[in-house]
Amino acid sequence: MIKRGRRLRENSSIRSLVRENTLSKNDFIFPIFVVEGENIKEEISSLDGNYHWSLDRLEEIISEIETLGIRGVIVFGLPNVKDECGSESYNHNGIVQKAVRKIKELSKDLYIITDVCMCQYTSHGHCGILNGTKVDNDATLEKLAEIAVSHAKAGADMVAPSDMMDGRILYMRNALDENGFKDVAIMSYAAKYCSAFYGPFREAAHSAPQFGDRKTYQMDPANSREALKEIDMDIEEGADIIMVKPALSYLDIIKSAKENTSVPICAYSVSGEFAMVKAAAKANLINEKSVVLEMLLSMKRAGADMIITYYALQAAKWIEEV
Ligand code: PBG
Repeated sequence: MIKRGRRLRENSSIRSLVRENTLSKNDFIFPIFVVEGENIKEEISSLDGNYHWSLDRLEEIISEIETLGIRGVIVFGLPNVKDECGSESYNHNGIVQKAVRKIKELSKDLYIITDVCMCQYTSHGHCGILNGTKVDNDATLEKLAEIAVSHAKAGADMVAPSDMMDGRILYMRNALDENGFKDVAIMSYAAKYCSAFYGPFREAAHSAPQFGDRKTYQMDPANSREALKEIDMDIEEGADIIMVKPALSYLDIIKSAKENTSVPICAYSVSGEFAMVKAAAKANLINEKSVVLEMLLSMKRAGADMIITYYALQAAKWIEEV
């Protein structure tokens, strides 16, 4: 007898009854890029429809985010000055710290996550303190903890270290606790691969390394078991949420993280994923809406509980239309 799988695809009612995964705007986190200066809303050339915002214009984007019903943002800062040790990154009046205070003023409910890293702030563009040409792991830990505490002081709900130094979660957890921020959560970029998909972001954040690459700290794209090792270590050290990044080419990693852990999993659909789809859509090669929703759904299906995406606002609108 023929087994008839098509019965359950007969019409949209039965299809929705058997649907295993759905997208919701509750799943999305939107990245915001903040800059010093006044009256700036400047489109990021590598990330169509995403902007650099000065603090006095932030209200526009924050109210749009809230109106659309997006619950979380991740804040990236571009400082005016960079130096060897990235000192603007832990300055109480640094760009992210000021932006967090401003966003808290504008919205009491929006959940604020901050990216904790040094690459936007160091003159050499590496994610930590250098010793010669090497990124010094333990010297960097102290700075990362300082950054995390300064973000927490400004009002961040969650800090998200993206540097890939060893031991940073434990170091940061202790520093946050000692400074009275027991309730500030940590989302670890636990399995962050050394990926060419970050290209457009580095243009957006002016954070490209000035020499060498990030292969001594970010993970080798050839490895998957190593991701579980990194994830386990970070959970052990106190990470509340772990992230897999990039998302699209690493769905297998998301899936195995889901199967092997019990903390929530965040997928970061990175700038290169966004840029590829945008370019293909502009060339009329694909239907942008369908492709984006399919991609985001694939991340959910793989096991992501939440997704950081430059498409968050657009996708929230598209979901309503479906
Ligand atoms: C900072 C950081 C990067 C991204 C997020 N945080 C760049 C990098 O590691 O080079 C990339 C995000 C994206 O491509 O969308 N370390």
